[in-house]
Parts: sequence; C-alpha cells; structure tokens
Amino acid sequence: MKRRAPFSAILFILLTVSACDRVRNVTSVQDPIVLGYSQLGDESSWRTQNSFSIKAAAKRTGIKIMFEDAMQDPANQIKALRSFIAYKVDIIAFSPLVETGWDTVLGEAKAAGIPVMIVDRMIDTDDESLYATALCSDFDLEGRKAGEFLIRKFKDRAAPVNIVELAGTAYSTPAIGRSEGFRKVLEQYPKFKVVYSEDGDFMQSKGREIMRQVLKRFNPKDINVLYSHNDDMTFGAIEVMSEAGLVPGKDIAIVSVDATQRSIDYLKAGTINCVIECNPNSGQQVMELAKRIVAGEKVEKRLYVQETTFDEFGDLDSIPARGY
Ligand code: AHR
Repeated sequence: MKRRAPFSAILFILLTVSACDRVRNVTSVQDPIVLGYSQLGDESSWRTQNSFSIKAAAKRTGIKIMFEDAMQDPANQIKALRSFIAYKVDIIAFSPLVETGWDTVLGEAKAAGIPVMIVDRMIDTDDESLYATALCSDFDLEGRKAGEFLIRKFKDRAAPVNIVELAGTAYSTPAIGRSEGFRKVLEQYPKFKVVYSEDGDFMQSKGREIMRQVLKRFNPKDINVLYSHNDDMTFGAIEVMSEAGLVPGKDIAIVSVDATQRSIDYLKAGTINCVIECNPNSGQQVMELAKRIVAGEKVEKRLYVQETTFDEFGDLDSIPARGY
C-alpha cells in the first residue's frame, strides 16, 4: 500500500501553488485543463491499471491532473474533493468507494461551479444535477454474465449446485451489481444455491482468509462453485484450495471478474473456468469527456465502458495479451 503525505500538507501545497501559479482561463491554449482526480485506493491489480490508465491518458492529452489516492477511506475522498474545490480545478473526477455519502461535498462543488464526473463506480443520489456524467462498468450485467455461464456449465446437472461467493467491498457498486445481477439470473433455477457469501474488499489477502474459513466450515465436496467478485480475491482463494489438495477449476468451478493477464493464464490452464471482463482502461474516455465538459458541451449522463467475457467454451488462443 502506498504511503501518502498528510492531507494538511497536500492542501497547503495546493493552495500555495494556487496563489502563485495561475489565474484560470481554460480557453487559452497555454493554460491546460486542471483535473482533480480522487482514486479510491490501490486494493487490486485492476485498480493499479485503472490509475495508470488515467494518469497516462492525462499526460497524453495535455490535461494537468491532481491525483489523490484515498486508501479505501471515503473520508479521504471527501477531503480530496474539498481540496480540489479550494484549488478551483476545472473539473473533478472520482471513483467512489461506496455509493452513499457524497451529496454534501458534491453540492459544494456545484456551488463553486466545478463540474463533476463519476468514474468506475456509481453514487446513490436523488439529485442528478450533482454530476455532469458517470462513466462506469455495468456491474449488474457482469453479475448476470457470471450466472449465465453457470447455467451453461451445469445444464446437465440435476443435483444442487452449491456456490460460495467472495463479494467485493460492502455498499460498493461492483459488489451490489455483481451480487444482484448474478442472483437475478440464477433465481429461475432453484438448483443453484449461494450457500455462503462474504465481503472480501477485493483484496487477495481477504480472498485467502475467507477461503480458509470456508474450507473449515464446509466439506469441500459440498462446494461446486466459487464466484469471486474480482481476480485478486480469486488468486488468494486458489492458493488456499491448492494447499488443501483441491484442484481449482475441477473440484470447484471458478468464476472470476476483471480479466487480468494472470486470470486469463489460469483460464487457459483450466484453473479458472470463466472470467468476466471489467475494463480498467477508461483513461482516454475520461480525458475526452473532461475536455468536452469543460468546454461547456452537454454530454450523456450515463456511459458504460465496453466489456466482454472469456470462458472455457470459447477460443482461448485468440485472447490478446491483456497488458496488465
Ligand atoms: O470497481 C471495479 C472493481 O474494483 C474491480 O473489479 C476490482 O478489482 C476493483 O478493486
């Protein structure tokens, strides 16, 4: 986990730079757009790539980015958003850790005339005027895809299919969508039963911890499927299964989300049976939207990044290198 300078120090630097560096005039070619970006943390390989994509795209497109890592704490995100408002950035973007608790600070951004873009995860608000656009993954669809794979895989099985779910951070959009979408699809087939579900915060260490508890609590023969909301938790669970003498992907079928290179390698080796892509490479789209919004253009309120699915029924040799 990265160590960050205390917030007060960051705020001091921001305000000092603000005083001597600039009078905003975004229409001038010499004056780049300033984007304040609050990233929720660095909990997974997906997140590391997402941060990389955003910073690289900012550099490529000539946008000046102030990037803050909230280390999995919404209070840090709120502080970062307030520092961006104090600095009078041209636009704020952020990936909210959880869905609720943003209305007050977003109201402050609105009052300051600073547009806000929501990226990756969504917020739960009754006031849509608090943000200009939201560019997210369709997490409900990801969950439905995971359920559809299981329907296909177990189509000839009449006996119950017992599922252990490693869920993501509680109250976060991906955890909510991946759970709800999955259940929506499977509820039409009573043979599928989620026998255990626990939040693992999208972290490998928690995937390991939870899988250890699961194998103490259940006879492994009674678990047919592990559905994990992200690759990092899957990797932790795979380690524990292998240590326990199980063959992941055979004794217990595995469905994972993200599609990092390592999970695709596991898919090719038969260790994972299905990988639902969650696309972290949204940087370029974020920057293009930022430019349009700052230029005063009205953009679509809700946008989704493109995502696909890879599974054992597909042509695994044609999957291009993931790059992360
Ligand atoms: O919000 C996207 C999710 O957050 C990714 O699936 C996960 O790996 C990350 O931590």
